[in-house]
Amino acid sequence: MLDNIPEHGHWSGRLVFILAVSGSAISLGNIWRFPYMAGEYGGGIFVITYLVFLLLIGLPIMMAEIMLGRMGGHSPIYSIRKVAETNGQHRYWQVIGWLGAIAGFLILSLHSVFASWSMGYIFRAASGAFEGVSVDGVKAVFGFFINDPEKQLAWHTLFMLGTYYVVSRGVNRGLEPAIKVLMPLLLLILLVLLGHAVVSDSFTEGVRFFLLPDLGRISYLEQMSHVILAAMGQAFFTLSLGAGAIMAYGAYLPKNIPIMSTTLTIVLLDTCVAIIAGMIIFPLLFSTGLHAVDVVNGLPGQYGPELIFQTLPLAFGQIPGGVFYAAVFFLLLVLVAWTSAIALLEPFTAYLVERFSFSRQRAAGMLATMAWLLGIATLLSFNEWSDFRLLGNVAIFADKTIYQLLDFLASNILLPLGGLMIAIFAGWVLDWHTTEDELAHGQGYSSYAIWRFCIRYITPLLLVIVFCYSLLKALGEIPGVP
Ligand code: TRP
Repeated sequence: MLDNIPEHGHWSGRLVFILAVSGSAISLGNIWRFPYMAGEYGGGIFVITYLVFLLLIGLPIMMAEIMLGRMGGHSPIYSIRKVAETNGQHRYWQVIGWLGAIAGFLILSLHSVFASWSMGYIFRAASGAFEGVSVDGVKAVFGFFINDPEKQLAWHTLFMLGTYYVVSRGVNRGLEPAIKVLMPLLLLILLVLLGHAVVSDSFTEGVRFFLLPDLGRISYLEQMSHVILAAMGQAFFTLSLGAGAIMAYGAYLPKNIPIMSTTLTIVLLDTCVAIIAGMIIFPLLFSTGLHAVDVVNGLPGQYGPELIFQTLPLAFGQIPGGVFYAAVFFLLLVLVAWTSAIALLEPFTAYLVERFSFSRQRAAGMLATMAWLLGIATLLSFNEWSDFRLLGNVAIFADKTIYQLLDFLASNILLPLGGLMIAIFAGWVLDWHTTEDELAHGQGYSSYAIWRFCIRYITPLLLVIVFCYSLLKALGEIPGVP
């Protein structure tokens, strides 16, 4: 039966594959989460820890996902099933694909909401709403926007339609052309913003704060464990692992393209973007006197979405040319969210096409509509439903809004669990020869051996730690760290 399922096409080359996977990986996590974590957790100390875990967790799993995708050649669900069956294993391993597809679907609905805020903010910024604005002013603009669900709904709908449009046209007519335009544009914007930061007076000061190790900012030794755990979580999250997205993209990778070196390039690109984002954000905050320590202390909001939607507009409002730079910055956020949303919709769409022989339009349309509906619930959890607790009587979820619940389920449970199972499947279930054939291509033997060692012993162990930590934190066993 697995032989008759439809093919979806192939990437036309290595570069477009690198851009596509980077497009999925680079998202709000790079622009916003990484810089704030570095600011919070001692600058360079966090950055170095993060880089180590990127090599121990992120890189091996990304290689495994791409490898499994290419071996299977289909949606993550069918790919895993096919690889399992050809290797004499039970087809139930396809649960890995299901976990990812469901997590991806949840993340898509969340992504759309943050993208819709950014879309609204492009126009606010461009109209000069932040010029010379005060702390109360930015708070008021944010409050006004958040409490206007209709407007957000319009942006959310537009974003989902855009995502649907690209995915419905398939790999060669939709994903590839979109990625070829969006990724260069996104990187160009990043460079324009970086250029502006480099010539500002506060560049050195901001970058020192961001990249130099500063033990003074980690007040207790016990906090070091939080730094380590935050770095581990981010090293996994930033590469979009466990959601089937990378595996789905791997399925369209031509056989002659080497996986190990290509993955390394992608990881480097993702890291560069995160570091550039910090190099843009910190000098900006320093140049306007919004010293990052104030941000740490919660001015005007804390780290959550407030950093992006309040602190940064406040800072942009105080610099010459701020109207332009702020608008372009929010455009950047929309672009990164869009390229990730495409990757989030693709795996499940591919599955529906394979399983029910649906047309791409129909499959992507159904899923986008469902994610859109779920997104409405997320959107409302910031206003009309902000007091509503879906699982109010379940202790661990008692204080979570719908948004927090979906985010927790996807990012803290489903993704790490999916990642762990991928490591076990690729490292323990598949034998040496099978994976060596696909990964090493008869060359790169020693890098292959290192990969195999990590994916068998180190990566799973670290993922178990991340997973247990998330659970204990949710249960309140670990005091509240952001
Ligand atoms: N990597 C994304 C970021 O850094 C977030 C993300 C997690 C994601 N899992 C994903 C994006 C799966 C696309 C697909 O923000």
